[in-house]
Amino acid sequence: MRVLGIETSCDETAAAVVERAADGTPAILSNVVLSQIEDHAAFGGVVPEIAARAHVEALDGVIEAAFADAGVTLADLDAIAVTAGPGLIGGLIVGLMTAKAMSAASGVPLIAVNHLEGHALTARLVENVGFPYLLLLVSGGHTQIVEVRGVGDYRRLGSTIDDALGEAFDKTAKLLGLPYPGGPSVEEWAARGDGKRFSFPRPLRGEARPDFSFSGLKTAVRQAANSIAPLSDRDVADICASFQAAIVDTLTERLGKALAAFTSSYPEQSDRVLVVAGGVAANKAIRAALETSCSASGFRLIAPPLALCTDNAAMIAWAGAERLAADIETGDAMSVVPRSRWPLDEAAAPLIGSGKRGAKA
Ligand code: KG4
Ligand code: ZN
Repeated sequence: MRVLGIETSCDETAAAVVERAADGTPAILSNVVLSQIEDHAAFGGVVPEIAARAHVEALDGVIEAAFADAGVTLADLDAIAVTAGPGLIGGLIVGLMTAKAMSAASGVPLIAVNHLEGHALTARLVENVGFPYLLLLVSGGHTQIVEVRGVGDYRRLGSTIDDALGEAFDKTAKLLGLPYPGGPSVEEWAARGDGKRFSFPRPLRGEARPDFSFSGLKTAVRQAANSIAPLSDRDVADICASFQAAIVDTLTERLGKALAAFTSSYPEQSDRVLVVAGGVAANKAIRAALETSCSASGFRLIAPPLALCTDNAAMIAWAGAERLAADIETGDAMSVVPRSRWPLDEAAAPLIGSGKRGAKA
């Protein structure tokens, strides 16, 4: 089957065509991503109104490019899969309305996809991974650990109770005067600094549930910076290194709880897998820490290539194809409305303050 994917939930306008053979073998026929980073850089973060307008201007051209790269037309499709949430509502409306119009005009069925399900299933687009497996999603809008039990079957083991991890990097960069997006800048400065100079907090350490909290860490960074201002280059490098060291420690400790919980839930499973997704997965110190944790706990780490770890439409098309193949009743997608919040695990109780920004996923 062939599925067109459309993604407009944050600051990437994306379209892709993905194929799924009867035996489940995937193929990405095209994967077009137009980033709006430059439109938002001056503001130090994503501006929802600018994002929505940019999607309107770019989406038809991006879809055309995805068709041209794949060498297919609308008539060759089995479905159109579109992100219906969570994300910025203006962008979601643009993608969903476009997809509905294409579906209504052509008769090709529409599938409304949860953006987080796209991240959760990407591993199966790049490797032969069976269920269940663990997912660590660390992006600008989400930080959560999810047990992926099957297509449409997710259990959230832990989540942030305040800021997302990428958001913590972005805010730290902003207060140090480093460019947006903050993650890459903080990583670059950290490489030249002393990670032991400042002792920043390790929030929620020792808690049984693998939840996260990053807002106190950000406040500690601000206080440290204020107390020694004006900052020299050495100070900035040392703050970045100490911040990153706190993050690495926290991730290692929190993830350890999740790996142990998964192992005791599935004692018989021999091939235990942790999949990492989201832009923060680009961080080399974090990757190295995940490798170490996984090998110590008998897990295999799967980190999809960065272009598939960060927001893209191939993952949305793939989630649509997996849903089609699993014959999951998707309901009347024409009446679906976009949702700024849409937890993967609807049964999990909301955590106080989590996802309050709701901007990036
Ligand atoms: O997945 P992504 O591209 O977009 C969404 O959030 O949906 O993730 C972007 C986030 C930003 O917060 C960015 O600062 C962070 O990932 N990031 C990094 C690195 N590269 C990107 N964080 C830490 N280290 C990096 N090298
Ligand atoms: Zn995302």
